[in-house]
Amino acid sequence: MTLKTQIDPQKLPRHIAIIMDGNGRWAKLHGKPRSYGHQYGVESVRKVIEAAVDLKIEYLTLYTFSSENWNRPDEEVQALMGLLVHAIEHEKANLNKNNIRMKVIGDTERLFPEVREKLFNCIDDLSQNTGLTLVLALSYSSRWEILNAAQKIATLAKEEKLDPSEIDESLFSQMLTTKEIPDPDLMIRTGGEIRISNFLLWQAAYTELYFTDEFWPDFNAESLYKAICFYQTRERRFGKTSEQVK
Ligand code: IPE
Ligand code: IPE
Ligand code: MG
Repeated sequence: MTLKTQIDPQKLPRHIAIIMDGNGRWAKLHGKPRSYGHQYGVESVRKVIEAAVDLKIEYLTLYTFSSENWNRPDEEVQALMGLLVHAIEHEKANLNKNNIRMKVIGDTERLFPEVREKLFNCIDDLSQNTGLTLVLALSYSSRWEILNAAQKIATLAKEEKLDPSEIDESLFSQMLTTKEIPDPDLMIRTGGEIRISNFLLWQAAYTELYFTDEFWPDFNAESLYKAICFYQTRERRFGKTSEQVK
C-alpha cells in the first residue's frame, strides 16, 4: 500500500526543501562514473516534482549546485552544467503542462552564460503559471546570501536610506534571495549525511529536518510520502509550550 493514503491533506508542508545528495556514491555502488549518478538523479527530480504537483505542494526548493560545488573537478562541474541545460530544455514543456513556475536562488552571475540564458528564458516562459513554485538553488550558499544581504543593508544605511534601528527580521528576510518565498516547513536530505551544508540557514530556523540514507537517484514519490508522513507527526511549537499550540 502506498503511504500517500496516510498523508493528511490538511497538514501538508507549504514549502519542502531538498538537499539532493548521494549521486556520486550511488554511481560508485553501481560501478559507474559520478556523472551517471547525476544523470539518474534527474529522474528522481522528475518523480518528486510530479508527486509534489499531485499533492498540491506550493513550494519545492531543490539544492542543485552549491557555491562550494564550484571547487569540484572541472570535468564534473562541466558535466553538471551540461546536464542542467539539457534538463531545462527537455523538461520545460512538461513543467509548463503542470502549471509550474520556476525561480532561481543563488549567485547566478557565476553561471556560464549559456546556462544563465537557458535558465532565465525558462523562468520567463513559465512566469504566468500559478501552480507549484519550483525553486532551484544554483551556485547557492547561505553564507554568500547572508553576506550579500549585509552588504545591501550597509549600503542603504551609508546612503542614509535606512536607519540601523529599522533592521528587523522582516527587513533582513527581504534582502535575501528567498524574499518572496515562505520559509521551508520541511527539509529533506538524502545520502546519509546529517548536515545542512550551507543551505537556507536563516530560513530553516524552525524547519523540520528529515534525513534519509537513501541516495538521491533512489529517491522517489514513495520516499517523499514517507518524509511528509514523518513531518505530520511533528508538533511545531516555535518556542511555545505544547499546551499553547494544541
Ligand atoms: C549530490 O550528489 C549532487 C551535487 C552535489 C551536485 P553528490 O555528487 O554530492 O554525491 P556524493 O555525495 O558524492 O555521493
Ligand atoms: C550538498 O551536497 C549540495 C547539494 C546537494 C547541491 P554536497 O555533497 O556538496 O555536501 P557536502 O560536501 O557533503 O557537505
Ligand atoms: Mg555529496
